[in-house]
Amino acid sequence: MVVLTFFNHAGGVAKTSTIRDLGYVLAESGRRVLLVDMDPQANLTKWLGVDDDVELAETVYPAILGAPDADGEDEDGELLLPRPRRVHGMDLIPAHLNIAIIEREVLSVFMGVLRLREAVRRLEGYDYVLIDPPPSLGQLSALAVVAADSVVVPLPTNRKGLDGIQTVIKMVREYRKAAPGLDIVLFVLTQHDRRTRHDRESHDIITAQLPSLAPISSPLSSRPAYYSDAQVEGMPIPVYAPGSEADQEIRKVASELLAALGRRR
Ligand SMILES: Nc1ncnc2c1ncn2[C@@H]1O[C@H](COP(=O)(O)OP(=O)(O)O)[C@@H](O)[C@H]1O
Ligand SMILES: [Mg+2]
Repeated sequence: MVVLTFFNHAGGVAKTSTIRDLGYVLAESGRRVLLVDMDPQANLTKWLGVDDDVELAETVYPAILGAPDADGEDEDGELLLPRPRRVHGMDLIPAHLNIAIIEREVLSVFMGVLRLREAVRRLEGYDYVLIDPPPSLGQLSALAVVAADSVVVPLPTNRKGLDGIQTVIKMVREYRKAAPGLDIVLFVLTQHDRRTRHDRESHDIITAQLPSLAPISSPLSSRPAYYSDAQVEGMPIPVYAPGSEADQEIRKVASELLAALGRRR
């Protein structure tokens, strides 16, 4: 089992979109995939078509703070992740607005930041666990990244992408103190608009400077219509637009991710 957290503290860099679509491609190829939504905004949950009432007991909450009704510990007193939902061939631990409570409460738990890491390591039956943190540097993000074996960094090929890189690298170094061996396995280039000179230049800067740190994926092109329509339909891009260029780009990045993970072993 490989646990990957898609980390970039900036919002709007396509963490959630990339998890949804790469998760789908991995599952479609026969791998057993669990997605974990750690963002109180619950975009991943909604974009996979889960919009009925999610209960707090179905989220990461019980694995970190105990069941909301204080009844969620198993016989050994271990905190467990709840039974997931099934969506588009993947398992999903959905999010709920009130997982935001974890930000504050986990601070009063001894070694609380390790709780998700411990719960995820008790899972059985998955090849890939993909974790989607919120766009912040708070405790939910720390829990998410510390739970991982490796970090995937979604990076838009623009000013925002370039500006965030130093902080991402610094934070991964910090998180490594609680998660020995944590590395960056792949930079995934997102929202690339090759028609603008700004994006082409940013792309060239990134591909010139980052390879010493981790491999860089081929770009996922900016396609606002596809991405917003797929969200409304509650579908990953490969389901919404099978065979499209957008679909092909995602499949290419999925194979680049597998290759990067293979080289890491
Ligand atoms: N390749 C793309 N082309 C166009 N829009 C995109 C693309 N990838 C993501 N988006 C859009 O950008 C916004 C931010 O993406 P999201 O996945 O929510 O990022 P994050 O999780 O990092 O905040 C969303 O509205 C999403 O639809
Ligand atoms: Mg998100």
